[in-house]
Amino acid sequence: MKKFITVLHFLIIFNIYADIELTPEELEGKKKFMTHCSDCHKLEGVLVGPSLVEIAHVYKDDKRGIITWAMRPGNKRADTLPMPPMLHVGKENLLKITNYIFAVTEGKEYKTSKKNEMFCTALVALMVFYYFYRKKLKKRMPKLQ
Ligand code: HEC
Repeated sequence: MKKFITVLHFLIIFNIYADIELTPEELEGKKKFMTHCSDCHKLEGVLVGPSLVEIAHVYKDDKRGIITWAMRPGNKRADTLPMPPMLHVGKENLLKITNYIFAVTEGKEYKTSKKNEMFCTALVALMVFYYFYRKKLKKRMPKLQ
């Protein structure tokens, strides 16, 4: 129990610290993000729309492209709903949200689903290999039995 509480304390302190690292403007961007975008977007993993890590990856060379998109979104991804326009949020707030997105995703690498697919295929191949060769392996390495 003591260990659990220590870990909890550590997590809380770390969480507060994570927020301190944001500039006041980025913090405001976070608030706006929570109001207007967080129903459909989260840091990592798809919610309704793509993750912030994916968004930061798509727009890394065109940060303001996020604002243009949010004012007039298209329908890029076949497997999601179209995103509703965010005109009511206003350009200034969208800029703050954009800065927040890049601050919070800094250093996080976007893993394409292709990389994940390759990893899963390799894992399955390894399991199949083990299944068929385990008898031979056991003969060679009796300690495994
Ligand atoms: C009702 C749900 C919803 C809300 C709210 C929402 N989005 Fe989205 N967003 C989506 C979906 C769904 C997509 C994927 C659309 C597609 O690719 O066809 C998306 C995609 C995006 C993309 C990726 C565009 C690209 O070129 O790949 C950006 C950037 C984005 N949203 C920004 C925002 C911002 C900023 C806000 C808040 C102001 C916001 N979204 C609020 C649902 C939402």
